[in-house]
Amino acid sequence: MTSESGPLPQVVVLDTGGQYCHLITRKIRELGVYSEIRPSDTPASALSGVRAIVISGGPASVYEDGSPQVDPGIFTLGAAVLGICYGQQLIAFHLGGEVRPGDHGEYGLAWLETMGDSPLFRGIAGRQQIWMSHRDAVAAIPSGFELHGATETCPIASIGDRERRLYGVQFHPEVVHTERGRQLLSNFLFDIAGCEQDWNPRDQAERIEDEIRRVAGDRNVFFFVSGGVDSTVAFTLCLRALGPERVRGLYVDTGLMREGETAFVRGVFESLAAGVFAVEHAEDRFLAALAGEVDPEKKRHAIGEMFVEVQERILESGHYLEGNWILGQGTIYPDTIESGGTAKADLIKTHHNRVAGIQKLIEQNRIIEPLHLLYKDEVREVGRELGLPEELLARHPFPGPGLAIRVLCTAGSAPLEKAEGGWLVPVRSVGVQGDSRTYRPVLLVEDPPGTPELQARATRLINALPGINRVVALAGANGPVGTLRVTPAAITAERLDRLRQTDGIVRKLCHESGFEAKVWQFPVILIPLGTPGRPDTVVLRPIDSVDGMTAQSVIMPESLLARMTAELLAVEGVSAVVYDLTHKPPGTIEWE
Ligand code: XMP
Repeated sequence: MTSESGPLPQVVVLDTGGQYCHLITRKIRELGVYSEIRPSDTPASALSGVRAIVISGGPASVYEDGSPQVDPGIFTLGAAVLGICYGQQLIAFHLGGEVRPGDHGEYGLAWLETMGDSPLFRGIAGRQQIWMSHRDAVAAIPSGFELHGATETCPIASIGDRERRLYGVQFHPEVVHTERGRQLLSNFLFDIAGCEQDWNPRDQAERIEDEIRRVAGDRNVFFFVSGGVDSTVAFTLCLRALGPERVRGLYVDTGLMREGETAFVRGVFESLAAGVFAVEHAEDRFLAALAGEVDPEKKRHAIGEMFVEVQERILESGHYLEGNWILGQGTIYPDTIESGGTAKADLIKTHHNRVAGIQKLIEQNRIIEPLHLLYKDEVREVGRELGLPEELLARHPFPGPGLAIRVLCTAGSAPLEKAEGGWLVPVRSVGVQGDSRTYRPVLLVEDPPGTPELQARATRLINALPGINRVVALAGANGPVGTLRVTPAAITAERLDRLRQTDGIVRKLCHESGFEAKVWQFPVILIPLGTPGRPDTVVLRPIDSVDGMTAQSVIMPESLLARMTAELLAVEGVSAVVYDLTHKPPGTIEWE
């Protein structure tokens, strides 16, 4: 299914390599206008008919060799143009203005003063908070343009040419920190470009089902399903389009899933239609692939490789793909358009897409991806329209490698060491500082968790102690903390069961208390810190986030924590319960 098969976009966002490209497109769609991304150098002739073009922000400098460019023909197409950040600089560069490299750049919040009478600021003129992230800036305004906004450090923060309907802003209207950004985009789309509302993801099911029937023809569809939102919604659409005789889903049980997961997924699929779902048991193979591995990256790699192996074996066996089968996938829009920021989260998906057997199917036109034009939130909306259970649609994100990256392993043995403010735990976890990954020990403080003061102190401690990247507070222990030690541990069925059990307790209590709706994700992690009879410590990591790129540690109600801690300390093999107070950055959400 190519994008030509989708609705014709009124708005095209030209991608100059910035991490904001998808955000801009999503915001435009949220305003009810369908929009798609194209490479920045798309020829103007391929854009005729669109009402508006947005040039996104990117990290390059217009004068650099190989920096993303646009076809200057886009400025005379008659479409309204909005250049954001680097996009504004490209407008100035191409239309006779001037761009100058900044020495120190400007990142973060700033105050914009608007001037003149720009339709971009209709109803929102005046002093306002905006978000800046740039080094270069426009130094001379191109002829025909007027100055529409400035900040203290950026004298040309917004320009516009009313007649030609060309506009530029140095700041980012698409991020939430730009307080009137949504209205600015709305002004551009509706008042300036004359767009009409044409997009509501809830109306998409029927169009997608027609498309599935067209692409599938008389062929049937086979899916690897995960129990995640995307593959389930894609599967359901195929089922509705083709009927239960022509669609099958296979779930690979890795043994690395949470308590009750296989049964939950089975329940969801069997309630869709009888006989469409099967389970491939691969628990032993995954456990064998992980045996003795303690390094986080090697663990991830082993899991990725095993996924590939199992999938290829199934595809090659032809058991499901005999004759007239094609493969269905839950690929969504951000997976099909590479744009700037690359998340570790994509690792497993990349593995899946690269399986040689799948490549072969792509070449043979035997892949169907019904959600390839949708964003995650839009997939959820379609799922709601299809009547899928909210319990499935509102699930917290769960990493592809499953519980394996939440059972921490170590080869060495060592006691806790007294350190400034607490104890140094010789178990390393992954963090992110600047753009680099860190892998460092954790500081354990004995104060009871649960106060903002302690959270603030944790941040100060991480800044002050260069050897650590994470701070946890003690929620409870089955003995004095000083007697705990780290002992060699790998992934075993026993430890996986222990994590499943403790994670199950946390999920149950969060669900009953309603706390689950207050967090974006709540990983529970096992670290090999304990006593001979009770070798592990449970880490609680409730966080809030928008997209997983940054996150805040969340404080839970005291009574809930007390109850949770008591139940967790009663689990066989558990010595202590600790609470992760670290934001991201400097810690990542997962510990590895
Ligand atoms: P980090 O730990 O990088 O996690 O702060 C950010 C988000 O990504 C999820 N995550 C993954 N998801 N495969 C996935 O599908 C992975 O390998 C993976 N690693 C991390 C994590 O749960 C969080 O939501």
